Amino acid sequence: MSAAHAVVDLDVTGDTISRHLYGHFAEHLGRCIYGGFWVGEDSDIPNVRGIRSDVVDALRALRVPNLRWPGGCFADEYHWRDGVGPRAERPTMVNTHWGDVVEDNAFGTHEFMDLCEMLGADAYVNGNVGSGTVQEMSEWVEYLTRSGDSPMARLRRANGRDEPWQVAFWGLGNEAWGCGGHMTPDYYTSLARRYATFCRDHDGNRLTRIAAGAADADLRWTHALMASAVSSNTPDPQASPYQAISFHYYTHSGTGIQRESATEFDAEQYYRTLAHAAGVERVISAHEAVMDAYDPERRIGLVCDEWGTWWRVEPGTNPGFLFQQNTVRDALVAGLHFDAFHRHAGRLRMANIAQTLNVLQAMILTDDEGGLVLTPTYHVYEMNVGHHDAASAPSHVVRSPAATVGDEELPLLSLSASTRGATALLSLTHSGIEGPLPVTVDLRGRRAVVARARVLTGPDAQAHNTPEAPDAVAPAPLDAEVGADGVLRLTLPAHAFATVELTLE
Ligand code: AHR
Repeated sequence: MSAAHAVVDLDVTGDTISRHLYGHFAEHLGRCIYGGFWVGEDSDIPNVRGIRSDVVDALRALRVPNLRWPGGCFADEYHWRDGVGPRAERPTMVNTHWGDVVEDNAFGTHEFMDLCEMLGADAYVNGNVGSGTVQEMSEWVEYLTRSGDSPMARLRRANGRDEPWQVAFWGLGNEAWGCGGHMTPDYYTSLARRYATFCRDHDGNRLTRIAAGAADADLRWTHALMASAVSSNTPDPQASPYQAISFHYYTHSGTGIQRESATEFDAEQYYRTLAHAAGVERVISAHEAVMDAYDPERRIGLVCDEWGTWWRVEPGTNPGFLFQQNTVRDALVAGLHFDAFHRHAGRLRMANIAQTLNVLQAMILTDDEGGLVLTPTYHVYEMNVGHHDAASAPSHVVRSPAATVGDEELPLLSLSASTRGATALLSLTHSGIEGPLPVTVDLRGRRAVVARARVLTGPDAQAHNTPEAPDAVAPAPLDAEVGADGVLRLTLPAHAFATVELTLE
């Protein structure tokens, strides 16, 4: 295979790559919360106050910056008061979106905030616009964040929590165009303004309110939300009704979500999937262009609070639980997304993969017997931790072999880079399945030596981890060196994700 060549400008300090681009999402869906994070205090599986300890330990290595909860579609039928107070007295409800199962509300506000504290993650609470009232949302914010003597602060104290929590992010409903209420952009925009108005900043807490926006590149939502945000915008973004707008982008191989197997796919499906994943950059650019027209100073943030692969559920599992395996292909999907996210860090402030455990493109798969498997996607998150809050460094693929996918060309090399003081981190994704790819990267502006290089791959793109073979896909050392000419040289195996940590002189 012909070689690929790229350049990285190590002496140019680009936009900061917010750690929140590595955010997570935990919905009351399938076995993400129940049987995932939450096993209950009486479980034989080691737990702290009902939250599974090995899951928390594994996630700590990812430095989870924020966790979105309780949905997704579930958020718009969730009523928070059902999930506080003595567990035995909490009412039940039907989770109509996901499996039509009865939800007993054992995991509620206190349990979620406890989980965030264990993870060291900021809370991203998604409020209910679809079927909840303004008062209900307003009181939830008060319950969570207000100190002193107020009705909701008193209720929180009666439920065992004296001090308020800090809540960083607040979602104003979810997918208003669909499961969140089948609204029009204009109707939802008015509602978002109204709900946001009553989500107050109590005491020292400062909410970033996130309006629910488009699916993919449906720019009608971005236009409506931006026109409205700017009409009341001032130099203080906190004075705008919402401080960010979101979109969702799911990856599949072109025939629609939930149609194809996570583990059994041919070369054509593989390349279509990666081309679709790379397409997230066009979607981000499209939203950015609209936002730039209304808000050139970038006061309003763009958030991709659901992304990832969506495959057919594993055989024998509940179709409403969205449990899927996770292969090398999924890891490369993640690598391509992060490269795009890094390049757009000036406007894109947060992203949340769907979802953390046992649902869609998960980090971790668990079973009810105490088994736990780290997925290839988990390893991409871990290998990219060095990008959190680092300065993006301009990087360009100058030359790369490409795969033809329909009428598009998918370059087989993707890369992005960041610097932090005397260190730099390069991430490289090789999408080719035919063989190894020799790569040279011209490191411009600063002298560098390789501190550590690692690669993530498997015998084929279908490789994945199971309880029997938990390390079938795991990071391994990679040979890489910087020559006297300042050129980094390495060879990427087929279907591989790699990181190179550099020490800068
Ligand atoms: O992540 C699963 C679901 O996908 C979410 O609940 C919803 O927002 C989206 O359609």
